Amino acid sequence: MRQKKIVIGNWKMNPLSLKDAEKLFIGLTRRISRIKKTEIVVCPPYLYLERLKKFSRKIVLGAQDAFWEDAGAFTGEVSGEMLYNLGVRYVILGHSERRELGETDGFVNKKIKSALKAGLVPILCVGEKERDANHEYFSVIKSQVERCLKGVSKNLISKIVIAYEPVWAISSTANRHDATSADSREMAIFIRKTLSDASSPEIAAETRIIYGGSVNMKSAKDFLENGGIDGLLPGRASLDAEEFTEIVKICEALKN
Ligand code: PGA
Repeated sequence: MRQKKIVIGNWKMNPLSLKDAEKLFIGLTRRISRIKKTEIVVCPPYLYLERLKKFSRKIVLGAQDAFWEDAGAFTGEVSGEMLYNLGVRYVILGHSERRELGETDGFVNKKIKSALKAGLVPILCVGEKERDANHEYFSVIKSQVERCLKGVSKNLISKIVIAYEPVWAISSTANRHDATSADSREMAIFIRKTLSDASSPEIAAETRIIYGGSVNMKSAKDFLENGGIDGLLPGRASLDAEEFTEIVKICEALKN
């Protein structure tokens, strides 16, 4: 069965205070009260999760990472089970900004398995750093998808959301440039084929593939209509309640 379209806000390491986090989140809950068809997820820093959970039933909370062990001597880490117990339901894993700090496909693979075990929906981020004339970037994505999903049981794959985020298009990348809906479409088809080979065509068809990388209210419609995707993962644009709401409304207005 086709799953709902999804818009996920990645707040990254913002805002600076709990007060500002509350203001942004409450502003958002007021604006999205009429949304029915679109699943809305917000991923704030860990320390705001508990407070924000009180403000909305419509917005599902996500975390930006989760460790692969449940509990124990792992200073500085937070487990999927802890997050689930707090009411968190999604977790971003393998974001390029974490990969830049040393996160490997092997780590992401362990984190995906433990997140699924804890009842969380992993949002697996994949994306190439650059596009080369020989199209090597396809093998980069294939290997990220395959390594990160290695050993994940086939019937759990469609629970995972795959976010295609070309690093060269993310707002924080120096000398970035825009990706087009055609770039997104081509890669979404390729990721679905990779998933199909790893599981089955039916499972691949059910799995949500979304796009992230400087999406804003001007580009959202084109990506959603022509990008071959089931949703969006805005970062910077999710820090503005009005802009994020516009993106959600564009998704809500889609015909199918
Ligand atoms: P951006 O971030 O929309 O600010 O480019 C997206 C992401 O990195 O998840």
